[in-house]
Amino acid sequence: MLTLGIETSCDETSVALVDSGREIRSNVILSQAIHGKFGGVVPEVASREHVKTIIPIYRQALEEAKVDPADIQLVAATMGPGLVGPLLVGLSFAKGMAWARDLPFVGVNHMEGHLAANLLEQPDLDDNHLTLIVSGGHTMLVHVKSFAEYEILGRTVDDAAGEAFDKVAKIMGLGYPGGAAIDKLAKGGDPRFVAFPRAMRKDGYQFSFSGLKTAVSLHWNKLSGEEQQQQAADIAASFQDAVVDVLVEKTVRAAMDTRVTDVTISGGVAANSRLRTVMAEKLKRAGKRFFYPSMSLCTDNAAMIAAAGYFRYKKSGPTEFVIDAVPYLPLE
Ligand SMILES: Nc1ncnc2c1ncn2[C@@H]1O[C@H](COP(=O)(O)OP(=O)(O)OP(=O)(O)O)[C@@H](O)[C@H]1O
Ligand SMILES: [Mg+2]
Repeated sequence: MLTLGIETSCDETSVALVDSGREIRSNVILSQAIHGKFGGVVPEVASREHVKTIIPIYRQALEEAKVDPADIQLVAATMGPGLVGPLLVGLSFAKGMAWARDLPFVGVNHMEGHLAANLLEQPDLDDNHLTLIVSGGHTMLVHVKSFAEYEILGRTVDDAAGEAFDKVAKIMGLGYPGGAAIDKLAKGGDPRFVAFPRAMRKDGYQFSFSGLKTAVSLHWNKLSGEEQQQQAADIAASFQDAVVDVLVEKTVRAAMDTRVTDVTISGGVAANSRLRTVMAEKLKRAGKRFFYPSMSLCTDNAAMIAAAGYFRYKKSGPTEFVIDAVPYLPLE
């Protein structure tokens, strides 16, 4: 079933064509560079950019997939969580397409999209598994009992993991978004250089990253310009290690407690090289299988939305056309 996926929840305009939730025919992603100069996403600017680019991106997706609009059998678009203006652009486009061509339409939860990046690439993944979603706006440990049956074990009580990366990158003058820049810089640094706090490490499945961000900021601002230059890689590595330590420790504990055999990570921070390495090591030692998405499927993209939309459609049929964008749409 050829599915058209549309993603516009934040600052990526993306359109994909995915066959039966598994085979990516095209996945065109345009990241809106314009927000870099503001140091964060400006919602109104993002909406306008989506309006300008959605049709050319749709055409490019058709061209790359070498398909005709008449070949599309299902239309899926992110309905939330996200920024309401940007969401409305993609959602309206998708509804219009489905309506005009008399196709079924599915509204997709963006977080279900992130976790579906693994379903898309790993046909072998157990339906019953544990997933850690770590993105720019969310940090969640979820027990997936089967598709669309979720138990949220824990989430962040303040900043998301990606948000912490972005804020620390900003403090260190690395630009926005800064997760990938920290990852790169940390490769040449010593993760034991500063012992930054590991908040709530031992208790439960909740996460907290705002104290860590403050600790990095206090440390950084005490240094002279020269010291900052000399120590940047070590500080980036020490910060990254503090985030990774907590994410890995809780994920491994949850994998043991839920007795799953398979564990996945998804969302932008799943692109982090240190997280992938340490998680792989620790889960292997715990006797669990570990899966993570390809780099291009970690940050926002429409292929994961098409896949999630397809699995949703198979489970519960189409979504009513009257649904609206829901900025705080919960996963459960
Ligand atoms: N290599 C990396 N290491 C750490 N963080 C990274 C890396 N690459 C990207 N990120 C972070 O991933 C985040 C973007 O991910 P994503 O696109 O999933 O978030 P979002 O869509 O903005 O948020 P949400 O999915 O919660 O709505 C940013 O915070 C970015 O800094
Ligand atoms: Mg996202």
